Amino acid sequence: MNTFDVEELRSETPGCEFGVHFNHSGASLPSRPTLETIWRYLHREAVDGPMETAIDAGPLLEDVRADAASLIGATPDEMAFMGSGSAAWGAAFAALPPLAAGDRILVGRQEWGGNLATMQAAAARTGARVETIPAREDGGVDASALANLIDDRVRLVSLTWLPANGGLINDAAAVGCVTKAAGIPYFIDAAQALGQIPIHVGALGCDALTAAGRKFLRGPRGTAILYVRRAFLQRLTPSYLDVVSGPIVDGVVAIRNDARRFEASENSPALLLGLGTAIRQAKAIGINIIHERITTLAGTLRDNLRSIPKVTVRDLGTDLSGIVSFTIDGVPASEIRVALAERQIATGANGVPYTPLDMTARRLDQVARASVSYLNTPSEMALLSDAVAALAARA
Ligand SMILES: Cc1ncc(COP(=O)(O)O)c(C=O)c1O
Repeated sequence: MNTFDVEELRSETPGCEFGVHFNHSGASLPSRPTLETIWRYLHREAVDGPMETAIDAGPLLEDVRADAASLIGATPDEMAFMGSGSAAWGAAFAALPPLAAGDRILVGRQEWGGNLATMQAAAARTGARVETIPAREDGGVDASALANLIDDRVRLVSLTWLPANGGLINDAAAVGCVTKAAGIPYFIDAAQALGQIPIHVGALGCDALTAAGRKFLRGPRGTAILYVRRAFLQRLTPSYLDVVSGPIVDGVVAIRNDARRFEASENSPALLLGLGTAIRQAKAIGINIIHERITTLAGTLRDNLRSIPKVTVRDLGTDLSGIVSFTIDGVPASEIRVALAERQIATGANGVPYTPLDMTARRLDQVARASVSYLNTPSEMALLSDAVAALAARA
């Protein structure tokens, strides 16, 4: 595709016929080609037998792996397919060397709540500590402050690159420079980045990167990627194995020598092939083009919302993503979400558990979240702004 034909892309997206979708950071709308890939494969499974069909699917899934790898600047042997972003992140974390009392884990202030819960539970079991890296004045992670926190007890630095509760884009590459110099494992949660902004794991300097397929990339639910840097892989011991990730050969466990040591042998080829279609579509449009359009649309939406009395845009940072967060004085975000849904406008409402450190630091209990995809149009944004203005006027 040489030009960005949004109308054509919308006409290939069944969900665009039925409402206005501003919840791409929760889960986006899959395209018809993605749905057809899934349906075709499920039909073949039903007719020819699931195990029998899987024999042919093997090479196709390796193509998906190669495409997923090239989307983030990795190699196929560094990629595992997982069932969710949390499962991917948790698998990598659980595979780190055991923590001991006094060990430290450093996290960004916008760390995803699920990752944080996993780390805090591990810290509570072992006597390790989870500490928050100070934020800069604009709310983003402060890489210089991180450098000052490093000592020989730090076992992991974890950063949620684009937080779930707003438009901030953390400077993940600056954090990577610090961790690389210190030789400390560095995990990036890229759930909200995949399919929205360009990703190059080499430039980020991370050891592991995780993301679900269903968000800005528009892949199916139940899919996720786990990247593990080749040279880092040997430092990770999966918390469990199966007959493909660690077969017993001559009485000895032969753990796979690539990132598939984390992958379950029982998965859904239909969904993974659907993920492959979504990846190919995003690459055909061009991630830079997608990013540019999202930035422009989200910028306009923020300007519109800022002009409405009683509405406060809550996004931190200077370099902003397509996630637009806001509050209306006197109206809880959960009510905003319901009221907009009644007008067929899908948005999100984020409470404290999604990003506990940041919400607590900012004394926010909920924010409304309108996340913008390249699929959205200026007229949809006007509809959303008008609906928010009407709600604010009633408050
Ligand atoms: C930043 C971030 N990280 C991780 C996750 C968790 O992904 P999943 O729901 O696939 O486990 C989410 C989900 O919204 C997220 O926004």
